[in-house]
Amino acid sequence: MNRKDDHIKLAYAQSSKVNDFDAIKFVHHAFPEIDLADIHLSVSIFNQTFPLPFYINAMTGGSDQAKMLNERFAMLAKHFNIPLATGSVTAAIKNPAVADSFTVIRQVNPQGFVIANVGAGQTVENAKKAVNLLKADALQIHVNAVQEVVMPEGDRDFSGLLRSIQLIKQALPVPVIVKEVGFGMSTKTIKQLSEIGVEYVDVAGQGGTNFAVIENQRREKPYSSFDDWGLSTVQSLINAKKFPQMNVIASGGVRNPLDVVKGLALGAKMVGLSGYFLHLVKDNTHEQAVEELNQFIEEIKMIMLVLGKKRIVDLKTAEMIIPTSLASPL
Ligand code: FNR
Repeated sequence: MNRKDDHIKLAYAQSSKVNDFDAIKFVHHAFPEIDLADIHLSVSIFNQTFPLPFYINAMTGGSDQAKMLNERFAMLAKHFNIPLATGSVTAAIKNPAVADSFTVIRQVNPQGFVIANVGAGQTVENAKKAVNLLKADALQIHVNAVQEVVMPEGDRDFSGLLRSIQLIKQALPVPVIVKEVGFGMSTKTIKQLSEIGVEYVDVAGQGGTNFAVIENQRREKPYSSFDDWGLSTVQSLINAKKFPQMNVIASGGVRNPLDVVKGLALGAKMVGLSGYFLHLVKDNTHEQAVEELNQFIEEIKMIMLVLGKKRIVDLKTAEMIIPTSLASPL
């Protein structure tokens, strides 16, 4: 089976579990003193305004099944006017025969905000090819040392990645987002990225889809040391608070509307979901998925109503109870 199809099958088989978002609670105040009609969910990021504070994060491309999923993701992205990130476009750069499994996104949603994705270590030329193929509005560069180590056919040379990210960031005209794939970001990592001029990070922390487990399921002899590796999304967001100039995206283990609001209250400008959308499109027709997402959005508004917050940016002042084990940066 194609690696992309393995990832889809194994990620779909993972069920959502308890994670650090559950350890955080909002302080309840009895007088919200606002009207539901005054709540707006729009956010400004990537020099644009979007109507909703979340997006469909990087997943797939490179097989027939991936094409079908990307088509479904693009239909949802178009309906809700939310950004959509592709899976690693390197698959199409290596093998142009699978390019349509990515470009289907543009066919479905010609005006939408599309984020192309490549792995760290790519050349500037390949990064440009990825953006051009999709006429992408932004580029994600994923860093995934743990996944590569556990992946039987994965990379073993991680030297020079920061330099290659810096070169791509300097050469590309679109916003460049550096993202993990579910292992989170330390204070040191975010500092290193900030020092080379990166303006957007997607922390993609531990707590949701677990790529160490997925790659171990593809190995004959698992490297079990990595099954519980990484910093959670909550810990990563707390680390990122030290860098107020950084545009931070929360992702990794965002399972429901409450996790979205908690991610935003912890300082993120936007929230990314992968596993949630994979299950949403695989378990539902487009119409059912739209209905479920409308309910998801309604629930975000209800949480904001009870918190007494009219705007997403106001969530940063929401008071939270954070266990001391999570409260300090790492
Ligand atoms: C991913 N993810 C991912 N990330 C990335 O940067 N490039 C990629 O090609 C992929 N591929 C991929 C395939 C599938 C099937 C899934 C489910 C996920 C990782 C993804 O963007 C995200 O960081 C993690 O899945 C954690 O977020 P969730 O799933 O807990 O919301």
